[in-house]
Amino acid sequence: MREDIERWEAKYQAADPDPELRTDPLLSSHLADLHSVGSALDLASGSCHSAVFLAQQGYDVLAVDCSATGLAIGRRLAQREQTTIRTLTADLDEITLDKEAYDLVVCLRYLNRALFSNMKTVLKPGGLLFFKTFNVHHLVSSPKFNPAYVLQPGELSQSFKGMVMIDLNDGEDPKITQSWIVARCWQ
Ligand SMILES: C[S@@+](CC[C@H](N)C(=O)[O-])C[C@H]1O[C@@H](n2cnc3c(N)ncnc32)[C@H](O)[C@@H]1O
Repeated sequence: MREDIERWEAKYQAADPDPELRTDPLLSSHLADLHSVGSALDLASGSCHSAVFLAQQGYDVLAVDCSATGLAIGRRLAQREQTTIRTLTADLDEITLDKEAYDLVVCLRYLNRALFSNMKTVLKPGGLLFFKTFNVHHLVSSPKFNPAYVLQPGELSQSFKGMVMIDLNDGEDPKITQSWIVARCWQ
């Protein structure tokens, strides 16, 4: 949505231009599952913290986001961390992604249900998906959060059935306000 894109661009323009690298525990806790070679795609990468972490592990990473400013922050972050990433400024509602092109796909804190099937088809056989975002329990502490952007309990296992589950929290526990999935495509 155009307004969302403008809002995010303004947010990154006002953000710290040189943030410290933050690695989401979903990625760092699955280091043993990362093959450390091949191609990775960071969808809605923002300022590319996941992309930079994956590049440090040895992946050739493409970070995609609608905010050119967020991606510029990410490229500087990669440089400071002595690694490289590729970036693409694009609207994920419009983009066509190559099929079976990536060994790993990550998408954190961005819910676009229309992308779910692409998140599977862009993976090579055996490829890994990392997806985590807010669920319905988040609305208790943040009632102004847009309810369209939260996952319902059970939604991830339903949406990604057919993949091999490695780690799943699907919103059953009301104390955990994000749902996540780590899953592998069949070989
Ligand atoms: C909450 S941030 C998450 C950023 C990053 N994944 C993270 O966890 O730090 C959501 C991101 O989605 C991006 N975004 C929102 N709508 C988008 C769209 N239609 N196409 C591409 N990116 C979009 C925003 O620019 C923002 O960087």
